[in-house]
Amino acid sequence: MGKKSYEKPTIIKIESSFSKAGIPTPKQKVRSKIAGVSVEELVERFGSPLFVFDEKDIRRRYKRAYEAFSSRYPNVQFGWSYKTNYLKAVCAVFHREGAIAEVVSEFEYEKARELGIEGRDIIYNGPYKPYDSLVRAAKEGAKIHIDTFDEINDLERVAGELGMQIPVAIRLNMDTGIYPQWSRFGFNIESGQAMDAVKRIEAGGKLRLVGLHAHIGTFMLDANAYKVETAKMVQLMNEIETSTRFSIEYIDVGGGFASKNHLRGIYQPPEVVVPSIDDYAEAITSALYENIKGNNYPKLYLETGRHLVDEAGYLVTSVVASKTLPDSRRSYIVDAGVNLLYTYFWYKFDIELARPIGGISEPAMINGPLCMNIDVIDESILLPRLKRGDKLIISPVGAYNVTQWMQFIRYRPRVLMVMEDGSVEIIREREELEDIERRERLPEKFR
Ligand SMILES: Cc1ncc(COP(=O)(O)O)c(C=O)c1O
Repeated sequence: MGKKSYEKPTIIKIESSFSKAGIPTPKQKVRSKIAGVSVEELVERFGSPLFVFDEKDIRRRYKRAYEAFSSRYPNVQFGWSYKTNYLKAVCAVFHREGAIAEVVSEFEYEKARELGIEGRDIIYNGPYKPYDSLVRAAKEGAKIHIDTFDEINDLERVAGELGMQIPVAIRLNMDTGIYPQWSRFGFNIESGQAMDAVKRIEAGGKLRLVGLHAHIGTFMLDANAYKVETAKMVQLMNEIETSTRFSIEYIDVGGGFASKNHLRGIYQPPEVVVPSIDDYAEAITSALYENIKGNNYPKLYLETGRHLVDEAGYLVTSVVASKTLPDSRRSYIVDAGVNLLYTYFWYKFDIELARPIGGISEPAMINGPLCMNIDVIDESILLPRLKRGDKLIISPVGAYNVTQWMQFIRYRPRVLMVMEDGSVEIIREREELEDIERRERLPEKFR
């Protein structure tokens, strides 16, 4: 039997959440299974750390969102926001459910095409679309959303080269009562710039305006902002249709619906502050009905990202070491850090144990494995005494982490998907040295 390690006893200040008798009262948060599969078993089979996605949950969220809109408005189409999570398997689930692709770069465009999505089923957004990618998108019939006057010029050149009139949409920005206003994308409505862009497109004669697009922000906690947005977009549509020869076929209200994540600085729980998908749907569709004239119902596009995937993603991590800090807090070092959790900067995650652990809970800090002082996953949490190998489950982490994670200091881990039938698939392999060094070149004299 190995010798037990000795640790000098420390006096821990017990916080007010403990009962007077010294019995620990905080309820332990335990998640022994993800999508019906034991966390311990996942780690045993696939190692640690691990990102885990729940296919059934993604589908359920998509269906619920689609139903909220399609039950209120006749012509609805979701475009999956690739930047939110562009792992192939995740995109494929959304495409199988009926979503088209929403991309913001030539790289994302190529990914969507590679997955078999036709050009006409790609919404091409973003402030910089390289010229060659515009040529490809125009040839393939993508929905190109113009961001600047420079892009109008580029697209007119493309139209000349291809000898075709290109159908386009313009991105808009506006005051929806949410500040700071996202005014750097697209053309501003209130200043008249949006109407100037429309007139400019009409005068050029090479492009045909068929759509209006806006994306007013992300993690929007006020559903009413969408009512204002939609009303302003429809009013602009009405103005365009009466003063130009363009007929608007679709309105794309973007993404931004919040997930049930805990935004730092907001003290009420997500269950209280996050609007429901029905609140968002009601705000948008009521503004459509209130402002559309006659029977001219444009198609409604949505580019919802985080709301559909954030809560379907988990990060499983294991304790690799622990110590007591000078302020008597326990520090647990785990094998996943902020290199994998870009959204850490905005959210205070839910942290759960993979199994109930007895004993008194004590103040603790959870640190990642990076040799960087900023690698803190939770600065202040009450936890029972954990041992090496104990597992923690961090959530919701399905949105913007597996796209914005960093290859920094450590390899990025495996990503799994628990499929609808309960089987488990690896959807991204753990990185190896070769993956990272493949693009490097060592000059001859150093060899
Ligand atoms: C143009 C556009 N559409 C959709 C999205 C998705 O946003 P969200 O994940 O907040 O729904 C974004 C993200 O910022 C975006 O820039």
